[in-house]
Amino acid sequence: MAKITAGIATSHVPAIGAAFDMDKTQEEYWKPVFDGYEWVKEFQKTEDPDVVILCYNDHASAMMLDVVPTFALGCAEEFEPADEGWGARPVPTVVGDPVFASHLAEQLVIDEFDLTLMNHMDVDHGLTVPLSLMFGKVPEWPVRVIPLAINVTQFPTPSAERCWQLGAAIRDAVKSYPAGLNVQIWGTGGMSHQLQGPRAGLINPEFDNAFLDKLSDRTDELRKITRLEFVRESGTEGIELIMWLIMRAALGDKVEELHRFYHVPASNTAVGHIVFRPVD
Ligand code: DHB
Ligand code: FE
Repeated sequence: MAKITAGIATSHVPAIGAAFDMDKTQEEYWKPVFDGYEWVKEFQKTEDPDVVILCYNDHASAMMLDVVPTFALGCAEEFEPADEGWGARPVPTVVGDPVFASHLAEQLVIDEFDLTLMNHMDVDHGLTVPLSLMFGKVPEWPVRVIPLAINVTQFPTPSAERCWQLGAAIRDAVKSYPAGLNVQIWGTGGMSHQLQGPRAGLINPEFDNAFLDKLSDRTDELRKITRLEFVRESGTEGIELIMWLIMRAALGDKVEELHRFYHVPASNTAVGHIVFRPVD
């Protein structure tokens, strides 16, 4: 039986990817950011997951505004790093798991989540930067990845509660997969940041730290956060935190917090990172 053994959340700032690719991780500005991920890189060596269900958002890289799926599940054999305007990142091709993805698609549609199935999709910094942070520089990614892209680019975005319900359905779908797979679920994006308008540069450490505190056992409060509250408290791009709620819901009621990191700023963003173990 497949089992979710850990849940991981992290910010996915593109400049972190650029610093990583250009070997700037030890520079004064970047070192504190990358140091925050040393723990999880060691953790991953012992956990050795088979597959990651990676909840992130595409930033109009693979899906421009002509098509905007709310929930898009990557069912392809492979996903190439997207060209986001300055060439694709020099990182390995992401290898998928079409058989497991088909199972997830079937179970989630049975559970009333009408997904968009992506049989071809490039993956942008929302997915590849977290892979670099978790595994470092590698010739091949040591896991298969099932991308799950959530719409946070065009209103109406899915609610926090809807994302929570999707995570709960993913938990059931994974449990019903007969193959013995070690599965992790990740949520990427956030924490508070705003990239445009008069409030560009907004960061709200109080909001972010309360979010981190509540993510273990006060999730009922997080599920009620409205789109307007996300914008007001965490900036226009803080909505990316809804991906963290999918991850958390997929772990079930009780979790143990294994690791936490918070750092301001990286580029325009408050960087947050947390690792959970589900407690059955
Ligand atoms: C930044 C952060 C993001 O999450 C993103 O998608 C793009 C840019 C930033 O801080 O610059
Ligand atoms: Fe983003």
